[in-house]
Amino acid sequence: MIISGTELAKETKQDVARRVAEAKEKYGRAPHLVVILVGEDPASQSYVKGKSRDAEEVGFKNTTIVRPAETSEKEILDLIAELNADNEVDGILVQLPLPRHINEDRVIEAIAKEKDVDGFHPGNVASLWQKLSCILPCTPKGIIRFLDKAGVEIEGKKAVVIGRSNIVGLPAAKLLLDRNATVTIAHSRTKDLAKVASEADILVVAIGRPKFVTADMVGEGAAVIDVGVNRDPETGKLCGDVDFEACKDKASVITPVPGGVGPMTRACLMENTLECFLRKMGEIC
Ligand code: GUN
Repeated sequence: MIISGTELAKETKQDVARRVAEAKEKYGRAPHLVVILVGEDPASQSYVKGKSRDAEEVGFKNTTIVRPAETSEKEILDLIAELNADNEVDGILVQLPLPRHINEDRVIEAIAKEKDVDGFHPGNVASLWQKLSCILPCTPKGIIRFLDKAGVEIEGKKAVVIGRSNIVGLPAAKLLLDRNATVTIAHSRTKDLAKVASEADILVVAIGRPKFVTADMVGEGAAVIDVGVNRDPETGKLCGDVDFEACKDKASVITPVPGGVGPMTRACLMENTLECFLRKMGEIC
C-alpha cells in the first residue's frame, strides 16, 4: 500500500484551518508564522515556499524574511530578539542549514521556547525526553501521524529507526517508544544492519543516503517510512533513503519520495503554530 502523504496531510491541514477560523473569530486575529531564510540555497527556498503555501492555506498570517548569505550572526540574533518580543508573532522558524559563519545552535537557542514551532530549542528537546508538555519536532510528529492515519498499529511492535540525528532519528525513536513500540536505533555502523532492519515491523529511515535501504533490509509486511530527500546520483531526480521500486512489494505500507513524509511534516508545522497561538491565549497548556 503506497500511502500519499499529500492526501493524509490534507486532513490535518483542514482540521487546522477549521480551528484557525474559530480562533480568528474568538481572538480577532489569525496565528502569525514568521519564517527566516538566510541565503539562496535552492532546496531551502523550495522548502520555505512550501511552508508559506501551507500557512496561506490554513489561514495564518505568514511572513517570510529573506536575508542575504553574508548576514552576520548578530543581525540574525537581533532579528530573532525583535520577533520574540513581538506579541503578535506566534511562531518563528529559521530555515536550516544556515551559512557556515552562523552558529546554528546559538540561533536555535535564541528563539523563544514558546515560539519554537520546529521543536528544536534545547528546552523543548529536554521536555520531550522528560515527558513534559512541549512542542514536538515536526518530522517525528508527522511520522507518527502518518502511521496512525495509515492504520498501522504501533503498540507492541518492533520499530527500527535508521539514523540518529537530533532532528529526526532520536526524537522519532522517542515518540515510537512513548507509543509502546520496542525501538532499536540503528545507523550506518550498525553490525548486520540488513538483519536488524529486516526484523522491523516499522522501519523508519532517516540516514540521508540515496536508496540506502535495499529489498533485503525490509521484512515481509513491514511499514516503511522514508524520511530521506536526496538526489538520485544516476538520474538527478529526487529520491528517498529507500530503494522504493525494490522494496514496495515487500512492504505493507510505504511512503513515496516526494509526496510522503514531507507534506505531513509541513502539516504538523501548521498544527504546532496554531498550538503556540492557543497556548499563548491560555487555551491549552
Ligand atoms: N531544514 C530541513 N528541514 C528543516 C526543518 O524541519 N526545519 C528547519 N528549520 N529547517 C530545516
